[in-house]
Amino acid sequence: MGGHQTYLVAWEGTEPVGHAHVVWAGGKLGVPEIQDVFVVPAHRRRGIATALTAAAEREAAAQDHARISLGHSIANDVARRVYERLGYRNAGLDPERVQGTVLMRGRPVEVDDTLIHLVKDLDCRPRELDT
Ligand SMILES: CC(C)(COP(=O)(O)OP(=O)(O)OC[C@H]1O[C@@H](n2cnc3c(N)ncnc32)[C@H](O)[C@@H]1OP(=O)(O)O)[C@@H](O)C(=O)NCCC(=O)NCCS
Repeated sequence: MGGHQTYLVAWEGTEPVGHAHVVWAGGKLGVPEIQDVFVVPAHRRRGIATALTAAAEREAAAQDHARISLGHSIANDVARRVYERLGYRNAGLDPERVQGTVLMRGRPVEVDDTLIHLVKDLDCRPRELDT
């Protein structure tokens, strides 16, 4: 991992069953941001999004980030429940209207949505404590 962004892919055998995109810099809150979490419908509610999120959090903590964020559609109750259960809280930003063309899974998609930004504190040790 490392660099400016990371694509995490969950596999079951040779089948990709979910993914998450992590942007390490330039996120809305100035902390790493998890984006584009998706689990193949037949594999949902088996903890795959939870595992992808935990992997992103582990890597962020390993890179000494104290927080990680994500945005979900205001209408996406499933995502809200998943992330509340994982300890994410409202970041205190105003809901963000997003309009225009975005790239999702490599394809341009027209969006008109309102995002809620969430944030989670990570359990990481400042680098200076290791010396
Ligand atoms: C949201 C999404 C990523 C969740 O993936 P997942 O692998 O099913 O999530 P998990 O299995 O890790 O879910 C953990 C918990 O979230 C909650 N949850 C997940 N799916 C749920 C559902 N359909 N209804 C209610 N709660 C749900 C539950 O609390 C679940 O734990 P439980 O199964 O023990 O009750 C998946 O539904 C998805 O790909 N949706 C379409 C894309 C999307 O909305 N992405 C989110 C962008 S922020």
